[in-house]
Amino acid sequence: MKFVKNAWYVAAWADEVGSDNLFYRTILGDSILLFRQEDGVAVALRNRCPHRFVPLHLGKKIGNTVQCAYHGLVFNAQGKCSATPCGESIPRGAEVRSYPLVEKQKLLYIWMGDPEKADESKIPDFWYIEDDSWASVKGYIRGESNYQLMVDNILDLTHTNYLHADTLGSEALATVKTDIEDKPEHLRLKRWMPNQFQAPLSAASRGFAHRLADSWLDTTWYPPSNMVIEMGMTEPGGRREDGKVAFSLHLVTPETETSNHYFWSMSRDYCVEDSEMTRVIGHGFEKAFTVEDKPVLEHQQRAMGETSFWDMKPIFLAGDSGALRARRRIDAMLAEEQA
Ligand code: FES
Ligand SMILES: [Fe+2]
Repeated sequence: MKFVKNAWYVAAWADEVGSDNLFYRTILGDSILLFRQEDGVAVALRNRCPHRFVPLHLGKKIGNTVQCAYHGLVFNAQGKCSATPCGESIPRGAEVRSYPLVEKQKLLYIWMGDPEKADESKIPDFWYIEDDSWASVKGYIRGESNYQLMVDNILDLTHTNYLHADTLGSEALATVKTDIEDKPEHLRLKRWMPNQFQAPLSAASRGFAHRLADSWLDTTWYPPSNMVIEMGMTEPGGRREDGKVAFSLHLVTPETETSNHYFWSMSRDYCVEDSEMTRVIGHGFEKAFTVEDKPVLEHQQRAMGETSFWDMKPIFLAGDSGALRARRRIDAMLAEEQA
């Protein structure tokens, strides 16, 4: 499977991994076990016993260890076998791979590549997700499509005017010129939409339903597949500092070549106490992603089958510019890892 391995991917929302459960999820084609030690620190191990390959999540968590369900081998949080059922000596090679795992801002990030290269400081700062002066809503969706189709989707928002016309789309967004900031650590796509009608869900929640507003929408892509959209709105001619701002996270992790994990959230700095607004926004986003994006991407995946994106010989439109840069950057990362 062709994935960039030396990168931080979201393995789970931190609250998916409780103090007692053995959580598992397939990431970059490998089944990964996530659990918390007694001190609450989460760890990641390969979810496969080296004896007869039974998934460890079927076993039992005992303190800081996990016991295989089949013949009772016990593995510690570093993946080393620490006990055998009959007390026989521990055979050589009785260990499972452990992966660097970092809990940050309500997310668990995993590093599937060379552990020597795992640098925590490279994880993006999504501070608003845990800031109580912001209101946040979040979710998780599994999609049966290659993760790069999700990246294309978020980096080309011209689709919103067609696929999400009643919620996230607007004429302004479909036609706006995008300025691209291309830095080694990220790509940023900046869109400025002055004095226009804005997307229904965004406008309504900010008090701009059916009236003109100035709006900006800046998408930042952190290679290979973590993205955040900053969306702000002001009175026409207003100052950005006075705008109503939201950050939405779109964090995508490959499951297999043809499936992905999508962690999304929306954090806003206005009407923070309004829990009904949080519910409506959360529902609107979830519906857009689940009922509108997901089926289209899954059809897209089926239409592509096993053929690579470039071999499909797609045609290109102006709105593709950011997504194409991201694809070329991912290709370069893959080539570098495989060199
Ligand atoms: S398969 Fe795990 S102990 Fe035998
Ligand atoms: Fe969409």
